[in-house]
Amino acid sequence: MILVTGGAGFIGSNFILDWLATHDEAVVNLDALTYAGNVHNLASVKDDPRYTFVHGDIGDTQLVAGVLERHRPRAIINFAAESHVDRSIHGPEAFVQTNILGTFRLIEATRAYWGLLPEHSAFRFLHISTDEVFGTLGAADQAFSERTQYQPNSPYSASKAASDHLVRAYHHTYGLPVLTTNCSNNYGPYHFPEKLIPLVIHNALEGRALPIYGDGQQIRDWLYVRDHCSAIRRVLEAGVPGETYNIGGWNERANLDVVHTLCDILDELSPKAGGGSYRDQITFVTDRPGHDRRYAIDARKIEAELDWRPAETFESGIRKTVRWYLDNAEWVRGVASGSYRNWIEKQYA
Ligand code: NAD
Ligand code: DAU
Repeated sequence: MILVTGGAGFIGSNFILDWLATHDEAVVNLDALTYAGNVHNLASVKDDPRYTFVHGDIGDTQLVAGVLERHRPRAIINFAAESHVDRSIHGPEAFVQTNILGTFRLIEATRAYWGLLPEHSAFRFLHISTDEVFGTLGAADQAFSERTQYQPNSPYSASKAASDHLVRAYHHTYGLPVLTTNCSNNYGPYHFPEKLIPLVIHNALEGRALPIYGDGQQIRDWLYVRDHCSAIRRVLEAGVPGETYNIGGWNERANLDVVHTLCDILDELSPKAGGGSYRDQITFVTDRPGHDRRYAIDARKIEAELDWRPAETFESGIRKTVRWYLDNAEWVRGVASGSYRNWIEKQYA
């Protein structure tokens, strides 16, 4: 049995779907169902006897202790977080609450549980983090390695950096067998349409503006979400406790190029009714405050030590992603209209 937190979000739900498709081992999903949590992502496994959903907050010590006691996981994978940089700029408190205090309470409850386990050393706490903790790179700089200094620039990345430090400290101080992964930008199915790629696909099809912050020359290093999930499984299986692993796809792209690519694929797969290109909807808007210029991951450690590399190129992954959004218009409509939240209201009215 493994415990996944934040499993109703973008990466967590892809992780659970892939896990249940490739493993016999059961999964408990602990998720607070914030605006980013969507149980419909997991509709295909909701009746699977190996899948259990628990509605709750990682910061609720009593609830977490009860979940650990009842399900006795051999590993915890902590995806739960506030994840959107723009939201952290407008309202940082939720980020401090979940990413810092929530992670602290989760790991503290984990320490108590782990201390009483007979198979003490086989247990793992895998903390999912981001490349944003390293700050920004200049055009001529090398990529982020596991030894790059932390220099977070947004309230989001600062809160993730704080949680990474707490997790690290629990290994050094208490010996808790922790692993941390720092991954680059993910894209793929079930991505909430507040983030660049799903937002652009959705807005394009709705005939709305495609907002490019600043000059659009900021660089992100894109990884197909299922490749991130396979890397996490590999780290869980073979990673060395106390170590951190950078995960990336060697796919640096400027934002404007990503948006051009999306428009070109949409022009081909779903041409505009009135003719013309989706590129015509591109609109340059005011830049994000403190916008990091470039991220790039040096993924040599995970490749050399754990023999992991991504299966998708950016070209294959982005095409699959556009296809998924075209084939799953109902999911997108449910998220855009807010109707995906009805489930929570019905359950907890
Ligand atoms: P997401 O926002 O799509 O999902 C977050 C999930 O966590 C949601 O289901 C939400 O309901 C849940 N959650 C939030 N607060 C909670 C709380 N207090 N208790 C329990 N559940 C809570 O995020 P995502 O994009 O899937 O990211 C998952 C993790 O991966 C995060 O830790 C993020 O920092 C990290 N990460 C994301 C990316 C990316 O590109 N999306 C890249 C690298 C790392
Ligand atoms: O690098 C990993 C991080 O990637 C994760 O830790 C975060 O959880 C995840 O949200 C993502 O952060 P970004 O800020 O890079 O992702 P976002 O999709 O919000 O933005 C990608 C780039 O596109 C960024 O340079 C800002 C720009 N952008 C974004 C939006 C939403 C635009 O130009 N226009 C937009 O409308």
